[in-house]
Amino acid sequence: MKSAVVYSTLTGNTRKVAEAVLKSMPEGTEIHDVASAPDPNGYDFIAMGFWVDKGHPDDKAMAYMKRIEGKKAFTFFTLGAKPASAHAYRCAYLAHTYYGSGTEEIGSFFCQGAIDPKLIEAMRKMPAGGPHSATPETEARWAEAAKHPDAADLAAAEEAAKAARQIALGEDPMAAYKAAMAKKAQQ
Ligand SMILES: Cc1cc2nc3c(=O)[nH]c(=O)nc-3n(C[C@H](O)[C@H](O)[C@H](O)COP(=O)(O)O)c2cc1C
Repeated sequence: MKSAVVYSTLTGNTRKVAEAVLKSMPEGTEIHDVASAPDPNGYDFIAMGFWVDKGHPDDKAMAYMKRIEGKKAFTFFTLGAKPASAHAYRCAYLAHTYYGSGTEEIGSFFCQGAIDPKLIEAMRKMPAGGPHSATPETEARWAEAAKHPDAADLAAAEEAAKAARQIALGEDPMAAYKAAMAKKAQQ
């Protein structure tokens, strides 16, 4: 199963996650910035990463995802919102709809990513009361986002991508655990 990691990034957060995802792949797996990624037809399994731009995958990622047809895919993304938010779950829920026909999304991973300080400055200048204007809550969320992706996010991304690839290969990600439990039961 020929695999590749393809990612789109503006400020580097999604690249960090892509590099963690790569660690779960066999030696020699290709990693490409979406701007120079080869035709997706050359792969069977693609780990596809994007940053959330106004509630959707960024434009470059979206254009590439549309070209991924009849493959197995693992989606990962970073966003400014909290991972346990309706906004994040909506992004995760919709992600599969951006792939080309016949592509099966095996799983996904998402975490917060530091928001571009220029965008934060612009939001701080917005009139009070708007959906993106600064409040103590949004300031706290931006400060939390600034710490991500952290080491725990990267380890979780690697684990999630590993499980998705095993499923794509028809392997059981629980096999080692089941074997250990069966051995224990015999003792
Ligand atoms: C123009 C712009 C739009 C954004 N839109 C959203 C959004 O709709 N929801 C969200 O949670 N984060 C949003 N973000 C935050 C980014 O998704 C987040 O910081 C991400 O980690 C950036 O990834 P990158 O470093 O790989 O470019 C936006 C950031 C920018 C610059």
